Amino acid sequence: MLCSSRLASFLLASALVAYAPALLCAADAPVPAAPASPAAVAVLVPTQGNDAVHGTVRFTKVTGGVRVVVDVTGLKPGEHGFHLHEFGDTTSADGMAAGGHFNPTKDTHGAPTAEHRHEGDLGNLKADATGHATLEYVDTKLSFEGAASVLGHGVVIHANPDDFTTQPTGNAGPRVAVGVIGLAK
Ligand code: CU
Ligand code: ZN
Repeated sequence: MLCSSRLASFLLASALVAYAPALLCAADAPVPAAPASPAAVAVLVPTQGNDAVHGTVRFTKVTGGVRVVVDVTGLKPGEHGFHLHEFGDTTSADGMAAGGHFNPTKDTHGAPTAEHRHEGDLGNLKADATGHATLEYVDTKLSFEGAASVLGHGVVIHANPDDFTTQPTGNAGPRVAVGVIGLAK
């Protein structure tokens, strides 16, 4: 009994001696620098018959979400449904290879401000009389990490407005431009 308790004390002491330098090293190590803010960009590619549509969609990590900045030209004046879609695949002439709305939480379709929405439901772009549309806002549902990460997914601009009600698409009509969200320099 005495022997085993002495052995236990010895082992405990040895363990402390062994770990102490490691603890000191950890305390002395410099605090690692925060990683650079992730940023991503999608360059829009017009679908067949919509050759005039060009632009970019930028994503930047900010406190509380992701800042989305859109600049598009060549649209028909008026509102156009604007979504992230599941696939960053622009290989089909009609944009359908981008799949359905990006929806990692399996929620219902809605407005970007709605409690229930797809992560990809970014609302509508409003093109002016010259066909130019801009948008800038912070989306609290988007992320650069985990299942809600925008990286690698698709951006789609539609011919018609998103009505925020019709399931699961918002009835926004054909796709006039698509893009792939990649890491920005
Ligand atoms: Cu869409
Ligand atoms: Zn949706």
